[in-house]
Amino acid sequence: MTTKQKVSLEEKMTPVGKPPEGTPQYAGPPMTFELWLSKYFPTLQRIKQRIKFRLLEQMDGPFDASDLMPPGATQPAKYPAYFFMKPVHTFPTPGGLDPAFGPYHGEFQQRTTFYFTKPETIKYWLQQVYGDIKPQRAIDLGCGIGATTFVMAELWPDCEVIGIDLSPSNLRYARRLAEQRGVKNIFFYHMDAGDCSYFPDASFDVVNESYILHEMPTYHSRAVVKEMIRLAKPGSIITWFDWPPAESPGDLARREEIAKRGSEPFMLQYLDLRLEQYLVELGLEDVRRVVRAGANMLVAARKPAHQPAETAERELVTAS
Ligand SMILES: C[S@@+](CC[C@H](N)C(=O)[O-])C[C@H]1O[C@@H](n2cnc3c(N)ncnc32)[C@H](O)[C@@H]1O
Repeated sequence: MTTKQKVSLEEKMTPVGKPPEGTPQYAGPPMTFELWLSKYFPTLQRIKQRIKFRLLEQMDGPFDASDLMPPGATQPAKYPAYFFMKPVHTFPTPGGLDPAFGPYHGEFQQRTTFYFTKPETIKYWLQQVYGDIKPQRAIDLGCGIGATTFVMAELWPDCEVIGIDLSPSNLRYARRLAEQRGVKNIFFYHMDAGDCSYFPDASFDVVNESYILHEMPTYHSRAVVKEMIRLAKPGSIITWFDWPPAESPGDLARREEIAKRGSEPFMLQYLDLRLEQYLVELGLEDVRRVVRAGANMLVAARKPAHQPAETAERELVTAS
């Protein structure tokens, strides 16, 4: 008789490893201290961040981010107003517009044990959802410095993988990582996830977002979800890595706290989105929560092969 050995996901994961040569390095105290500081002394934390930001290598470029425009685009991306309203993650500037935001994000991801910034974890779950498909084109919305985007490019080496984000410094940092790692099938562009009209309808085999929906007001996160559905080919799977809904009074209290504290200023608006229900309302098929672990959730759904989601939504509205 064989005994089935239970291997936890933690065991399956390999360490993130050393950052590539030339990556700006974090030289401060452990991130747990940073988080503690941001919880109890947010103002002090902001001052400290500002000083540290200045010490980090800058990822500066043209003010309109024209260096990050996709080929053939004639207009720089438009920023939605909310992007300038509130700083997120206790960063000193709104919307990741500081030229040192990218490097900061990079070093944070190398230090933190945050579940879905670990390439092995992301890879594991993408494989669970997408199996052994061979996509030709994939998009990662709100790619940041490319945590998910690089995994997609590795998983599907023959696929053109596009990451879009609104933070120029994140994108410049991501491009530099791509250069350092010699990844050729990855492209990073400056674009609002709520308006990807540069890309035609149904032009991607894989559409994914990672942790952006909770960083915007509900009216915009709804626009992003609809844009994701528009971009997906009929019959293809779409994935959302994001925060789970608050499922207990304690959890809700914690979300209210982080919203009030300012590290996730849009958290309560995100809860209003009710992502999974919204996907069902929009007419997506096989809506399922693939995994929930702490502050992480992966949701997958299929765009109907025949009926466009917008039609389903229109029908729903007419029926009510
Ligand atoms: C928490 S980070 C996640 C980054 C990356 N996906 C990851 O998992 O590490 C959220 C990202 O969303 C981006 N973002 C916020 N609003 C956006 C929008 N409307 N369009 C595109 N990106 C946006 C921010 O600039 C930031 O890089």
